Amino acid sequence: MSSSLRPLIAGNWKMNGLKRESAEELKSLIHKASEQNSVGCDILICPPATLVASMAELANGSPVSIGGQDCHANEKGAHTGDTSAQMLKDAGADYVLVGHSERRTDHNESNEDVKAKAEAALKAGLIAVVCVGETLQERESGQTLSVISGQVSRSLPAGGTAENLVIAYEPVWAIGTGKTPTVEDVADVHAHIRNDLQALLKDADGVRLLYGGSVKGSNAAELMNVAHVNGALVGGASLKAEDFWPIVETSL
Ligand code: PGA
Repeated sequence: MSSSLRPLIAGNWKMNGLKRESAEELKSLIHKASEQNSVGCDILICPPATLVASMAELANGSPVSIGGQDCHANEKGAHTGDTSAQMLKDAGADYVLVGHSERRTDHNESNEDVKAKAEAALKAGLIAVVCVGETLQERESGQTLSVISGQVSRSLPAGGTAENLVIAYEPVWAIGTGKTPTVEDVADVHAHIRNDLQALLKDADGVRLLYGGSVKGSNAAELMNVAHVNGALVGGASLKAEDFWPIVETSL
């Protein structure tokens, strides 16, 4: 790994997984992690909301943490179909993703919405993983760094620290496409985010910056080696323990 920060290797199962198959995959992941003498990274799985409680029960006491994929900005109330950060915490989650590009696109979430959700997460005692990333059009028109700066400065929660905040850089065009930026491009964006954080947070150097977007066993080592990359957010390759484990292994 590129720095002394403890890496975080996170799996985002998105809207995939039913009880039985998911439990099998999680058990297999826990088994692999438990076989290690020591685990030098944090491992996180974010299952769909229906499975947070049962997966958290399975993972209890293991090296694997459980997180939600989204939360509402309010603690409770008349918000049919939504899940509050407090509910995720109550179900056994330790983390929650906020501002994933699929949420920003499918649910029109603005940076301000993401910030409010991240603040709700911190208030509930969860670690917020704030996701940012440019579209292909933004990259091709040379706006990547300005878009990322805008998302970082406007989405970050008040009260964010190295302990309760993680940032995931996920180029929208790299998610689920098999395409990844060059390591130079990842290095540029991560250094830029680190630099922006200096002006926003006291302990900016301690905040973990994840790369996400088509991470798999075959490219993980190279990506995890880039300066200021402190872990990965993995979609497709996190669904099966046998695919996810080689990614975790790059950071053990
Ligand atoms: P992917 O998804 O690994 O399938 O590209 C990453 C993500 O959306 O978090």
